[in-house]
Amino acid sequence: MDDEPYDVKAFERAQAANDDAPDACASCAMRATRRDFLRDGAIAAALMLGLWPRRGQATMIPRLLSGVLAGSGEIAYPIPDSDGVSIDRKEEIIVARSHGRLYAFYLSCPHQHTALHWIRKHDEFECPKHHSKYKPDGEFISGRATRGMDRYAVRVQGNQLLVDINKLYRQDKDPGGWNGAYAPVPSVAVAS
Ligand code: FES
Repeated sequence: MDDEPYDVKAFERAQAANDDAPDACASCAMRATRRDFLRDGAIAAALMLGLWPRRGQATMIPRLLSGVLAGSGEIAYPIPDSDGVSIDRKEEIIVARSHGRLYAFYLSCPHQHTALHWIRKHDEFECPKHHSKYKPDGEFISGRATRGMDRYAVRVQGNQLLVDINKLYRQDKDPGGWNGAYAPVPSVAVAS
């Protein structure tokens, strides 16, 4: 069970509530589903269990973080000082640093909008509903989903990563936008 970052039983209770979620990708429906999920206090508590590493686990440890509204629809986060994954549960955003690049993802699985798990042992995201898997940069690996994780437009300003919540790229609809939706780690923050 070392590779389960969250309380699986609590998560499954949330998934049962999502079983009737439509398969369409309308953003309003997506956000409503996740908000329902995120209001579940048991799940929020379960997410917090991902804050602390256990002995012998992989190096990429998920953390919780809070963004700051930076105006014009952008949310600012500190630039991660090492490779890893952080979750802003209020804004439903995952911030990731991997191989010199910074990413921001929508929290939910592109298939049927279930909140994704970060599997520390394998350095992969995994959907608890149908087990689609994704790399740390959001690339699809396997499962029922048909595209990578949805990426937000991001840019670096000073020591902050700015996430544009009005620009969310789907890999299948806008592959060029999706491929370009990252920011290089600035040289002053390269050490990991
Ligand atoms: S909801 Fe089906 S793979 Fe994620």
